[in-house]
Amino acid sequence: MQVSISAELRRRFAEARRVLVLTGAGVSAESGVPTFRGGGNTAVWKGIPFDVISSGAMLERNLPAVWEWFDYRRGVLASLEPNPAHYQIARWQDRFPDFTLVTQNVDGLHQKAGSRNVVELHGNVWRARCTVCRMGHDMSESARPDACPSCGNSVRPDVVLFGEMLPPGVFEFAANKAAECDLCFVIGTSAIVYPAAGLPAIAKDAGAFVCEVNPERTPLSSLCDEVITGKAGEVVPQIGL
Ligand code: OAD
Repeated sequence: MQVSISAELRRRFAEARRVLVLTGAGVSAESGVPTFRGGGNTAVWKGIPFDVISSGAMLERNLPAVWEWFDYRRGVLASLEPNPAHYQIARWQDRFPDFTLVTQNVDGLHQKAGSRNVVELHGNVWRARCTVCRMGHDMSESARPDACPSCGNSVRPDVVLFGEMLPPGVFEFAANKAAECDLCFVIGTSAIVYPAAGLPAIAKDAGAFVCEVNPERTPLSSLCDEVITGKAGEVVPQIGL
């Protein structure tokens, strides 16, 4: 579907030097990853609501159950591929002198599409980390370790669970980049989970042009300079290269 992109956005895109992109679950929807909200499919696994099985409290109570859920999620994700939005965003990293991709997604599809240095606010399901020494373990190539190879303690998904803090320094890095950018895209996020949803306002306050891509309006729509209503996989490739 052909979307209408303003002359102003085209000019901003052509002239931008510092670009920040914030993505959420919607950017992966066309790859087959279910979103958390909207679309009528409230995520429930084995009768346990998503925000219960994916919580810090459940991790304390029943780490094996949390692993079972994340093992299942990795199993589903393993066969999914990036869509045209992931690929176009990956191309943008070489298009602008300063480019930052910040994602709330834990699916690793941006990296699979070729994005480098992705700022992952909520972690990544393909990593485990030691509950004690925090050493990370890549599970994209090898199996999940039973215990930390370094100190022997238990490992957990390297993902931010409900009720947990963001990894130290990650949001601060993203906020600094938002404050410096001249063009900010907000793609496929319901923009209700903070602090991530605060990044476009930081960019806007610092003078950036902010553009949202989403089939639905969000609480951020009114602060955006441009709202493109549509699916990321269809809209993002039309924005330009
Ligand atoms: P949500 O599920 O809250 O929102 C998905 C957004 O994507 C909605 O605004 C949809 O309208 C939009 N959307 C759906 N299909 C789309 C498409 N094809 N193209 C573009 N947009 C589309 O997901 P997030 O905003 O990412 O946190 O949720 C934020 C956080 O809430 C997640 O990172 C997760 C969850 O709690 C943690 O797990 C810590």
